[in-house]
Amino acid sequence: MLDHLLSPITIRNMELDNRCVIPPMGTNLGNPDGTVSEKNLAYMKRRAESGVALIITEITGVHPSGCVGLGIYDDRFIPGLRQMVDTIHQAGSKAALQLHHAGREAMPQLKKGEAIGPSAVPSFVYGIPPREMSHDDIKMIIRSFGDAAIRAQAAGADAVEIHAAHGYLLTQFLSVHANQRTDEYGGSFKKRARFVIEVVAEVRKRVGADYPILLRISAEEFIKHGYLVEDVIGILPDLVAAGTDVLHASVGTHGSPGGITSAPPEYDAGWNVWRAKKIKDAVDIPVIAVGRFTDPLIADEVVASGDADMVAFGRQLLADPDFLNKARQGRTGDIRRCLACNQGCIERLMLEKGASIRCAINPETGQELLVPKKPAETPRRVWVIGGGPAGMTAALEAATLGHEVTLYEKSDHLGGQVHFARQVPFKKVYGDWIDWLAGRIESRGVTVRTGVSVTDAMLENGDPEVVILAIGGKKTTPAINGIDQPAVSDAWQVLNREKPAGKQVVVIGAGLIGMETADFLVNQGSRVTLVEMLPHSPVLKITGHGYQLHKRLREAHVQFYFSTTISSIDGDRVTLSHENKEEILEGIDQVVLAVGMKPRSDLKNTLRDKNIRHFIVGDAYQVRRIIEATEEGARAAWNI
Ligand SMILES: Cc1cc2nc3c(=O)[nH]c(=O)nc-3n(C[C@H](O)[C@H](O)[C@H](O)COP(=O)(O)O)c2cc1C
Repeated sequence: MLDHLLSPITIRNMELDNRCVIPPMGTNLGNPDGTVSEKNLAYMKRRAESGVALIITEITGVHPSGCVGLGIYDDRFIPGLRQMVDTIHQAGSKAALQLHHAGREAMPQLKKGEAIGPSAVPSFVYGIPPREMSHDDIKMIIRSFGDAAIRAQAAGADAVEIHAAHGYLLTQFLSVHANQRTDEYGGSFKKRARFVIEVVAEVRKRVGADYPILLRISAEEFIKHGYLVEDVIGILPDLVAAGTDVLHASVGTHGSPGGITSAPPEYDAGWNVWRAKKIKDAVDIPVIAVGRFTDPLIADEVVASGDADMVAFGRQLLADPDFLNKARQGRTGDIRRCLACNQGCIERLMLEKGASIRCAINPETGQELLVPKKPAETPRRVWVIGGGPAGMTAALEAATLGHEVTLYEKSDHLGGQVHFARQVPFKKVYGDWIDWLAGRIESRGVTVRTGVSVTDAMLENGDPEVVILAIGGKKTTPAINGIDQPAVSDAWQVLNREKPAGKQVVVIGAGLIGMETADFLVNQGSRVTLVEMLPHSPVLKITGHGYQLHKRLREAHVQFYFSTTISSIDGDRVTLSHENKEEILEGIDQVVLAVGMKPRSDLKNTLRDKNIRHFIVGDAYQVRRIIEATEEGARAAWNI
């Protein structure tokens, strides 16, 4: 088992004892001045304990004009980077620093008018043009990649990876969408590749013959009229001749729809391998495959079949840094598999200003310094009330710290909202996570009492030293004439198959639950109309899953009414109200409510009045997403 994945490989003077790689992942954990922080080191230590042979660090900026995170453009960055490399070495892995320039995607520099790019074409994301680079700029940036590589060596790194992927400066030169130059750096794909080739050649010249150079490239731009893997194949001989030792075959750019680089759950493990294989077939150097890998057996197969030489596991290492060790020990069932939800990682970094890395299902990630390092000195009797994501996470974390935990859940199953969400297309993995949590809770000795609704009297007469209240939210019912008719149900009843899917269905609410319920209904053959009072769906199309969801519903001809409310439901007639005009939909045999929830208030007074030490977490505090639920559940347990 895993013989291929766990076999050694040598790249120039770097010996790797297995084929597993952690690809670069920005964390935003660094100090504001771009130096490495204690948080970076704690995060990295945990990743390095994974037993993965090669860790490629997050981006390090080679020049101030394109630095958007950690820096490597000055010697003052070396001591921190050396600490990071040492942390990786102490765990027995090898370290490559990723060298980066953001070009027209450098927001702080764009705002100050200091960003540079191949041409003054605005970024898809920010809409602000950079300054077109002069020949002197080009020479200077090429030199700065070389200087940075020397600093990486001084920091003790075993290799460098040049970042020519994902829409940053080097991809901008490759892309016809960003490069409209008419000099020797623009024109055909080959001419547009000149800058990248010169960067590689400069780094090779500076680091010497033995030092490994990886090149990360988006094998396909994944955008309309963008370049394709066939174009990339045409420049590979030049990249290899310039000094590239390993090609890391990623995909997509900043402008690619639906955040394809860190693909949503709609994409299977290894969905991008075929591009890595095309690249591998064209060159004689090792290739790294990346994209949605969560299963070491599938990765082993990729190496065994010769499709790639190494496999990178990104988000999986955020969800479970122990996953490779578990796999080595044959405990694959214990692995906490990444959901590809992107809530805590890439979408948090991209969409939430100033936020640093987390993982929706692994509360330790990015919060390594907050997790208690030892079991509790005084184990407490802890009641966790509510068996959804917040409660289950709280129970697991508290039991792991040695507390005596009882988890109460009033329904006959665990999982809370996820019990329903696991039914919707592409969300089976969410259900697997809940099953994983249930298994871990059991093995940690938590007493689970399903079908028990904790009452005020139980709290008063019981003897919990600490209560974690995770009772979730309750459904809200809009004041609509006819809401009590038999054709009206809520999303949960539909997803749970308590109510069969109708033929002509109106779903009220185009938030995530409404959209996913519509998706579920379409799969059952229903014709669906979605009605939303807001002017647009709160599900953002720029998120991975959101993009896919909007696309599927559009393709299924789901009809959307925005800025619209329902005035009445009468038999098979539903009356809509939009900008003071009414419209009647006829022949409707089902109306599904997905209008949101508000926190439950049960038990809160008793906990306060009886002075029982307690924490209120997840939807019971405020209705939000999984990441907030798990984080609050975990923090409560850590703070007992
Ligand atoms: C939080 C986060 C930050 C990332 N930052 C970088 C980065 O700094 N450089 C880079 O080349 N790719 C970056 N990526 C892309 C990953 O390296 C990887 O290619 C992608 O997540 C797909 O792999 P996965 O499905 O195994 O997660 C990032 C991804 C995530 C989730």
